[in-house]
Amino acid sequence: MSCYKIPKVAAFATLALSLALGGANTVAETSADKVDYTAMSAEQLADYLIFDARGFKLDVATQEGGTVRQRLEQDELQRTCSALQGARAEGDTATQVMAMARKAITYPEGEIKLGDWKKGEELARSGFGFRVGHNTDDHSEREPGGNCYACHQLDPDEIAYGTLGPSLKGYGKARGTAEAMLKYTYEMIYNPHAWFPCTKMPRFGANGFLTHQQIADIMAYVMHPESPVNK
Ligand code: HEC
Repeated sequence: MSCYKIPKVAAFATLALSLALGGANTVAETSADKVDYTAMSAEQLADYLIFDARGFKLDVATQEGGTVRQRLEQDELQRTCSALQGARAEGDTATQVMAMARKAITYPEGEIKLGDWKKGEELARSGFGFRVGHNTDDHSEREPGGNCYACHQLDPDEIAYGTLGPSLKGYGKARGTAEAMLKYTYEMIYNPHAWFPCTKMPRFGANGFLTHQQIADIMAYVMHPESPVNK
């Protein structure tokens, strides 16, 4: 998910640098004649560089259908959170974002149950799925994963993990598997803004990255007593 962002940021930095040095960049030159960068706010300039300066291939098809350009357009929740510029949502904004997120949650039929933790282990490790660019992920080759390790520690024996999210080592052992915990964990994976408005954690269910079954499998990986996460 984050892979296509790296060249984007790099390209942005290069453009910004060349603009600062007098606009010697070819992309800036071709469209520079009619554009007055100095009259733009930082936000307008960023939008211009990404959407109009033709520095990125925005017409590339994405896995969810549509194009990269459409993917980059923020939905209401993202716009609300972006306006906070990284700050925690509070007060009315928090209430509004949580309500928006809650509305977007659908539940599996019947009870929320744990699936197969071994399957969940694979999914939690896999970052395959929605990358586009040099190597576009093809869903006919492999199913998309959850990439949980990019932000969380899970299996205590795993040495490579990100720390943007809290450690989930021993999560199920500490919290148990009562109905309320199953529901909380399901909602956290489906749409975490329902609990942490404007969190950095992706909306795996609401955005169609993971199916109900995949979420059940990943939940088993973090909650089942037999899973290495809880050993
Ligand atoms: C981009 C980073 C990121 C990814 C990827 C990510 N998370 Fe999170 N997660 C977070 C953050 C950050 C929090 C803490 C909430 C906050 O403070 O915003 C969190 C919180 C949680 C919590 C609640 C923890 C608690 O103590 O109650 C659970 C459960 C969780 N994540 C599970 C997962 C699972 C399972 C996956 C993979 C499907 C995943 N996360 C992928 C960033 C991420």
